[in-house]
Amino acid sequence: MNEMVSMPVSGISPYALTLSSADRAVLKSQRPRCLWLTGLSGAGKSTLANALELQLNQRGLHTFVLDGDNLRAGLCRDLGMDPESRRENIRRMAEVARLMVDAGLIVIVAAISPFRSDRDAARALFAEGEFIEVYVSTPFDVCERRDPKGLYLAARQGRLKSFTGIDSPYEAPLSPECEIDTQALEMAQACRRLTDALLKK
Ligand code: ADX
Repeated sequence: MNEMVSMPVSGISPYALTLSSADRAVLKSQRPRCLWLTGLSGAGKSTLANALELQLNQRGLHTFVLDGDNLRAGLCRDLGMDPESRRENIRRMAEVARLMVDAGLIVIVAAISPFRSDRDAARALFAEGEFIEVYVSTPFDVCERRDPKGLYLAARQGRLKSFTGIDSPYEAPLSPECEIDTQALEMAQACRRLTDALLKK
C-alpha cells in the first residue's frame, strides 16, 4: 500500500455537534440508510445503483451513489487491487457512507468488496437496520460473457493481474439482507425489491 500512510495521531477528541443525525433526517423526511451492493465485476452493481437512485429521487428521496470505479478515480486513486488495498478502499467507502448517512442521505454503495471481513467491518459502522447488504449474485460465467469493459479477457490473457473471480477471490455473503441476480430479474423488479427493503420500517 501507499508509503505515505502515517501513524495515527493521539489526542483526538471528536467535537459533539449540536445538530444530530436524527435532526438532519427529520428535515429530509426519510430514514437514512446504507445499501451496500457487493458482487463480481460485471454483475450489474453500478447499473442497479443508478436505476435505483433514479427511482428513489423520483419519489422525492435524498440519495447518493458511491461507486467503486468512481471513487477509485479520486479519493481512492492511490490504491491498487491487492487485498490490503482493497481493504483500505472498502474502509474509506464505508467511512464516507457513514458520514453521508449522518448527513441524512440514503447511500447506495456499489463495490466488488470481495472480502467478508471488510464488509462486516463496514456494517459495524452502522446501527442495527441501517446497513443493508445486497448480494448482486449474477453468476461468474454470465459476468465473464458480458465483460462490459474487456477486463475478463485481459485477465484471461494475463494482461490484468489479481482479477476478482480469476486470480483473486470473491467471498459471497453468507446472510445478506437481499439477493439480486440481474440475469433472473428485470431491472424494474430488482429496483422494486430494493426499494421495498429500504422503505421497510
Ligand atoms: S474492490 O475490490 O476494491 O471493491 P472496486 O469495486 O472499488 O473494487 O473496483 C472495481 C473496479 O475496478 C471494477 O469494476 C473494474 O472496472 C476495475 N478493476 C481494475 N482492475 C481490477 C481487478 N484486478 N479486479 C477487479 N476489478 C478491477
